[in-house]
Amino acid sequence: MTIVVTGGAGFIGSNFILDWLALSDEAVINIDKLTYAGNLENLQSLTGHNGHVFVRSDIGDTETVGELLRTHKPRAVVNFAAESHVDRSIHGPADFIETNVVGTFRLLEAVKSYWTELSDADKQAFRFLHVSTDEVYGTLSPTDDAFRETNRYEPNSPYSASKAASDHLVRAYHHTYGLPVLTTNCSNNYGPYHFPEKLIPLCIHNALSGKPLPIYGDGQQIRDWLYVKDHCSAIRRVLDAGQLGETYNIGGWNEKANLEVVETLCTILDELSPRKDRVSYAQQITFVKDRPGHDRRYAIDATKIERELGWKPAETFETGIRKTVQWYLDNQTWVGNVTSGAYQNWVGQQYGA
Ligand code: NAD
Ligand code: DAU
Repeated sequence: MTIVVTGGAGFIGSNFILDWLALSDEAVINIDKLTYAGNLENLQSLTGHNGHVFVRSDIGDTETVGELLRTHKPRAVVNFAAESHVDRSIHGPADFIETNVVGTFRLLEAVKSYWTELSDADKQAFRFLHVSTDEVYGTLSPTDDAFRETNRYEPNSPYSASKAASDHLVRAYHHTYGLPVLTTNCSNNYGPYHFPEKLIPLCIHNALSGKPLPIYGDGQQIRDWLYVKDHCSAIRRVLDAGQLGETYNIGGWNEKANLEVVETLCTILDELSPRKDRVSYAQQITFVKDRPGHDRRYAIDATKIERELGWKPAETFETGIRKTVQWYLDNQTWVGNVTSGAYQNWVGQQYGA
């Protein structure tokens, strides 16, 4: 049997594929456009592994995706492919609409057409799992209850609006055409292979490079952090046992203010890789202009997936963040290739412009 993963060269997708192939013999067809966020170096350890087939394609290329589906006959498609960075969506929303909305629509069309041709048994067994975000629910005040699956969608950034639109399309393909879909809405991930434009890897990299650690506004915005491998285990669990058409919130019960997260990183770095002058990395913390429309607080109520599917995260924030800092210290070549753009030069050589 085979599954298709889209966006498998990105942060969460590559962790998902590495874990999947470590745990099972089922092959993965990885469809990724290799935008700036796609990095095949994340999957270097799979070189020569015949369970991983990489295909460079846009999820919006219905013809290529359709052909791949008919050739490999997957029993599931797990859709990670997206533009994922909120700040980029504020500066240039067009790519977010193109991939997250139009791309998801075209992918659904290709999948629907493949699924319609399957035998009744294969049709029933097939799953389309759409990986989404808690940001679709908008923002919380400090006293609001955490997001439940029943919360209204109130997206506030072009990124979250585009993800909300994709979630609605997925839902509509289930209700209208019967496509067997599942949707997950997860909180902030962190861990290995996280692109250093996002808060945690950016601050680890900047700290070690002697650069400022930029905190937007007052740094009291709250995010609910989940170690990426826990997100991957939750997706596997939903794929196995989720109820068709249902959505599942995934979170780590780890609400932290941004400033606290960055101070924690500094403390761990002070211990594991102290500055030559023995001054704390915390001295590099710099408050900068706030993100426009910055959501104040996200928090996930993960009761449904815990109760109905028996999933729980394995890491606490304390254990996960320490592993993450250690991973970045141990993988400075990866960081160097990403920050110098060397991996993109390679993509240019390998695939052309
Ligand atoms: P990422 O930006 O690291 O990776 C995205 C991947 O998708 C890249 O490999 C990129 O090349 C690929 N891609 C982009 N456009 C494509 C297209 N049109 N066709 C094919 N491939 C394309 O993102 P991530 O952080 O790994 O997030 C993966 C998914 O999880 C996204 O859907 C995101 O919305 C969701 N999510 C992320 C987080 C988080 O904290 N990072 C939390 C919850 C949900
Ligand atoms: O909640 C899930 C979402 O988490 C995912 O859907 C997104 O794909 C993912 O990028 C992430 O979005 P955030 O905007 O929360 O992540 P980011 O790492 O960009 O920022 C985390 C918090 O830190 C946020 O409140 C903004 C703040 N921040 C971020 C950066 C990059 C800073 O204070 N300084 C920074 O330099």
